Amino acid sequence: MASAGKIIKCKAAVAWEPNKPLVIEEIEVAPPEANEVRIKIVATGVCHTDLYHLFEGMHKDGFPTVLGHEGAGIVESVGPGVTEFQPGDKVIPLFISQCRECRFCKSPKTNQCEQGWAAHRYDAMASIATRFTCKGKKVLQFMGTSTFSEYTVMNQIAVAKIDPAAPLDKVCLLGCGVCTGFGAAVNTAKVEPDSTCAVFGLGAVGLAAVMGCKAAGAKRIFAVDINPDKFEKAKVFGATDFVNPNDHSKPISQVLAEMTGGGVDYSLECVGNVEIMRSALESCVVGWGVSVIVGWTELKDLATRPVQLMVGRTWKGCLFGGFKSKDGVTQMVKAYLDKKVMVDEFITHNMTLDQINDAIELMKGGKCIRTVLSVSPK
Ligand SMILES: NC(=O)c1ccc[n+]([C@@H]2O[C@H](COP(=O)([O-])OP(=O)(O)OC[C@H]3O[C@@H](n4cnc5c(N)ncnc54)[C@H](O)[C@@H]3O)[C@@H](O)[C@H]2O)c1
Ligand SMILES: [Zn+2]
Ligand SMILES: [Zn+2]
Repeated sequence: MASAGKIIKCKAAVAWEPNKPLVIEEIEVAPPEANEVRIKIVATGVCHTDLYHLFEGMHKDGFPTVLGHEGAGIVESVGPGVTEFQPGDKVIPLFISQCRECRFCKSPKTNQCEQGWAAHRYDAMASIATRFTCKGKKVLQFMGTSTFSEYTVMNQIAVAKIDPAAPLDKVCLLGCGVCTGFGAAVNTAKVEPDSTCAVFGLGAVGLAAVMGCKAAGAKRIFAVDINPDKFEKAKVFGATDFVNPNDHSKPISQVLAEMTGGGVDYSLECVGNVEIMRSALESCVVGWGVSVIVGWTELKDLATRPVQLMVGRTWKGCLFGGFKSKDGVTQMVKAYLDKKVMVDEFITHNMTLDQINDAIELMKGGKCIRTVLSVSPK
């Protein structure tokens, strides 16, 4: 490839500072170093965690940055020591690494990995190292991935090789939202057949959780959202009952307890709000109810009364649906190609990278499930 070993100048959406629109800029992307892979990003989704960093977290050490962590692309070139990838491979960049060598990677109990940005800088949501510069300034790689750029550079421990038959403008959603919600139900909650579930928040993450509950054989799935426009879509993924907290004067945990004879077996919080996390926990039945925190927030502490757990409920959380990232993404792409999981149904809008601020506004206004942006010119 003619560009191998050279700096690539390309287009990216730069978040110069919090709470401001992104700016399309020309950035310089350095060639891959040892064990790194440079990827041409073909398509990317926009996930609420991108909005969280820009408008809610706004961590001072997290800017300037290139957001985006739900992308798919093609390997452009590889650095020394890379044997698993070659130019032309279809890949998905991963915000959680899987080095296969650390104590977490070696344990079947977790998808945490000691390598990568996530092990050290949760708050700033990027490591200090970056391969991007713009106008003479270092620009961070959000969640290590930065898919709102025509090119990015990743360590090979955070890249999944996928089936060459996979359509990149669809499977990009397996880089975050769909795996996150689906895995939270299947891997973390471990939903059982004939159980009753409640999913709070019906964005792509929550809808994927609904799909996971259904795949695991749940017989009743309550879909909870303050935006009733989301209910129709929730039905497509298998929800059976629909609850809008704004229609009730009682706490939603009480409403669900009355509708289910004591509470649900499993609940999943897919909003990113500590009050809703509490309410999801307290919506679970005593004895064996399991509640999983999926929504992201670093701003507030969680609270509940200890007795809520003493009576036998379990409170858990997961990142990326508990999937070991490389293995999980490769399997989920296969499951999509085998028509065992839905992905296309999450996509409500298609745009180009230049329209990124419109895509962000759509999500802020609750008007989309997922917008897929086409990034690199074909
Ligand atoms: N744990 C992880 O690895 C991980 C990965 C991806 C996303 N996330 C997080 O998951 C959450 C959802 O992401 P998304 O992309 O689906 O977001 P989204 O904005 O598309 O969806 C959020 C939904 O929550 C609903 N909501 C808001 N307030 C509510 C309330 N009081 N009660 C019920 N529903 C309410 C909204 O109407 C919306 O439908 C975010 O917090 C995101 O940061 C976590
Ligand atoms: Zn995400
Ligand atoms: Zn590891």
